[in-house]
Amino acid sequence: MAESDQLIDELLEADVIVAGVPMYNFGPPAPFKAYIDNIVRVDKTFGFDRQRPNEPYWPLLAEQHKRLVILSARGDYGYNQGERMAASNHVEPSICTAFAYIGISHVFGSAIEYDEFVDHRLTHSIQQAEQAVGQIARDLSLLNS
Ligand SMILES: Cc1cc2nc3c(=O)[nH]c(=O)nc-3n(C[C@H](O)[C@H](O)[C@H](O)COP(=O)(O)O)c2cc1C
Repeated sequence: MAESDQLIDELLEADVIVAGVPMYNFGPPAPFKAYIDNIVRVDKTFGFDRQRPNEPYWPLLAEQHKRLVILSARGDYGYNQGERMAASNHVEPSICTAFAYIGISHVFGSAIEYDEFVDHRLTHSIQQAEQAVGQIARDLSLLNS
């Protein structure tokens, strides 16, 4: 419990959470899943009351307007929305589901692809991600100003 308490305290203090999460076998690496399992906690980040039939679960962090940034990397390509491998991408969707559950649903993100190919497409993807990260930083600074 002590580690979970510490991770939740850290989360409660943060305005922006930046998560570096590569794709491992179509989902987040196990340590990141363990992080989620430590911060999604009853009476800490979500409420639960079985006497409330219509809304037995509710988020506890929704009023705090926290932002989540997911920075990913993939060996293959085509995992973005509408692309050939999109249905196999369980990284961003699973993270967004868990964070929305505790009340963090304002999400930014970027992913590098083609890591396994090590050619001009990887170079281009890194350049695109660097530009996207710059834009995310600017968007976040405007939100916080
Ligand atoms: C165990 C493991 C599983 C992986 N599974 C996938 C995958 O399902 N799809 C994919 O596109 N890339 C996959 N990759 C490639 C990584 O996503 C990619 O190399 C990424 O840049 C690794 O980031 P890291 O160096 O921070 O671990 C996998 C890599 C590892 C080590």
